[in-house]
Amino acid sequence: MVRMVPVLLSLLLLLGPAVPQENQDGRYSLTYIYTGLSKHVEDVPAFQALGSLNDLQFFRYNSKDRKSQPMGLWRQVEGMEDWKQDSQLQKAREDIFMETLKDIVEYYNDSNAAQITKQKWEAEPVYVQRAKAYLEEECPATLRKYLKYSKNILDRQDPPSVVVTSHQAPGEKKKLKCLAYDFYPGKIDVHWTRAGEVQEPELRGDVLHNGNGTYQSWVVVAVPPQDTAPYSCHVQHSSLAQPLVVPWEAS
Ligand SMILES: *[C@@H]1O[C@H](CO)[C@@H](O)[C@H](O)[C@H]1NC(C)=O
Ligand SMILES: *[C@@H]1O[C@H](CO)[C@@H](O)[C@H](O)[C@H]1NC(C)=O
Repeated sequence: MVRMVPVLLSLLLLLGPAVPQENQDGRYSLTYIYTGLSKHVEDVPAFQALGSLNDLQFFRYNSKDRKSQPMGLWRQVEGMEDWKQDSQLQKAREDIFMETLKDIVEYYNDSNAAQITKQKWEAEPVYVQRAKAYLEEECPATLRKYLKYSKNILDRQDPPSVVVTSHQAPGEKKKLKCLAYDFYPGKIDVHWTRAGEVQEPELRGDVLHNGNGTYQSWVVVAVPPQDTAPYSCHVQHSSLAQPLVVPWEAS
């Protein structure tokens, strides 16, 4: 059996920084996700690292390329990180992570895996001290350093563009789709009204395009045959002084 073990990893221990995810009220988060495979899987690197600032992925690394690579809008950011040097750091993490993963898989043969891990770590106070320093000092310092280069990306207010389209398959109800796109941050409210009344959507979708750091969101309603009531799409976003209202112009 192949087992995927996604774990948040610290520099030296299997501990992750517990930081809030949302960029609300000027809060920022730095998150690392490390994934190791305990058995070989075709075309999947045994180890992968992914870093995010708030909701945006900014770097990746894997055991095949052994290169830390900036992602999305961070490909254009100069001076935030020495990616060559970071590649070596990630390689060191990979080694520790894979070693630890092997240990854990072995412990799982036993019924007290967590207990054994705890005892092992506590037997070496340096483990705990390093983890504490990593979580309480190193991670916040890294986040502060990265923010100097990333605030303009994370604090963007990109207003949504909105288009309304209709689609009707033979023998089916007409579908109205309202698409909001190219906006950031991702929190948005898109809904349809019929004669001023909010309608339950039939379908709803959200996509983050990491490449340019913008979101798309859409809502579809079904219109009963012969319905002549006015339909409008309403969009509310932090970049907008007031909600956008786009009426559906039936032709
Ligand atoms: C786990 O336990 C089984 C059965 O006792 C044994 O055959 C196997 O070698 C053990 N695996 C490891 C990784 O210790
Ligand atoms: C962002 O990327 C998406 C998907 O590639 C694309 O549809 C959209 O037009 C892009 N927006 C901008 C502002 O470049």
